[in-house]
Amino acid sequence: MGIERLVDTTTDVEDKEEQVLENSLRPVSFAEYIGQERMKNNLKVAIDAVKKRSDGATLDHILLYGPPGLGKTTMAAVIAHEMGANFRVTSGPAIERAGDLASILTNLAEGDVLFIDEIHRLRRAVEEILYSAMEDYKLDIVIGKGPSASSVRLDLPKFTIIGATTRAGAIAKPLQDRFGLVERLEYYTEDEIKKIISRTAGILNTKIEPDALEIIARRSRRTPRIANRLTKRVRDYADVNGDGIVDKITAEKSLELMEVDDLGLDPADRNMLNLMLENYGNRPVGLSTIAALTGDEETTIADYYEPYLLQMGLIERTKSGRRVTEKAKNHLEKTKKI
Ligand code: ADE
Repeated sequence: MGIERLVDTTTDVEDKEEQVLENSLRPVSFAEYIGQERMKNNLKVAIDAVKKRSDGATLDHILLYGPPGLGKTTMAAVIAHEMGANFRVTSGPAIERAGDLASILTNLAEGDVLFIDEIHRLRRAVEEILYSAMEDYKLDIVIGKGPSASSVRLDLPKFTIIGATTRAGAIAKPLQDRFGLVERLEYYTEDEIKKIISRTAGILNTKIEPDALEIIARRSRRTPRIANRLTKRVRDYADVNGDGIVDKITAEKSLELMEVDDLGLDPADRNMLNLMLENYGNRPVGLSTIAALTGDEETTIADYYEPYLLQMGLIERTKSGRRVTEKAKNHLEKTKKI
């Protein structure tokens, strides 16, 4: 994406200090983690069951899926914490060769949790090695080339893979089958987002008044990563332009400056909806056409823009494409006037 989006749900934090701050905001245990109640309950049962058994059982491999920014990495770290296990992190695109995966796996200790972000982007050759590693903790490696090549089978320590993906559908069936637990992260309720913002404000030592909290929560796209980002920006604005206390006016002014509207849409979302409306009215538009209109990749539209717009009822999916809804049309007309 060319433009930096404030409501961007990707994580690439460039600033070291910012990264430290971001990490300090992450909940460490189930008790601190707000929301995703159904998932937490399922995971607690699975974790307690493993802990109760005395036969050296390991936690099943877990697949977490859902829109970006909802806390897949955080949840994976919480699971490792609750298991009292080491937490190792890698990602699908980072594992380039089968040998890279072999070296990660042979360096694991018994019980470790290995988090693989964007697991749908694993290469086929790497994925195939993962199958037997996940299933029976064996690593099949081929040594040498041609007729003299031989294969060896190495024993691996018992570990747990937690895979994360924005698109469960993009994962090959054999890989999906190797996860004992498959859990979907849901959008947070406004109430949960408010609790997350309050918790973050507490860590940042910032006072946010109740009506300001309401405003920030409404514009956070029901997504903790965005809620935390907006909270930090609003705090900065209050520090620079006032006495550091976030009240209704400071919240409104700073969010206006960020061009995030009261449904949490940023200029890029509004641009996409406007382009669809101007060119197609409320007729369905194919994903490739939308991508051509905005100049984004199809996957960017499908993984980043669309889930929230669908959730909010601003677009609809039909057999022949995506359609802008009446609600979106009214919203765009209203925001145009402002
Ligand atoms: N910070 C980010 N996500 C959170 C969550 N789900 N609970 C508490 N704090 C958070």
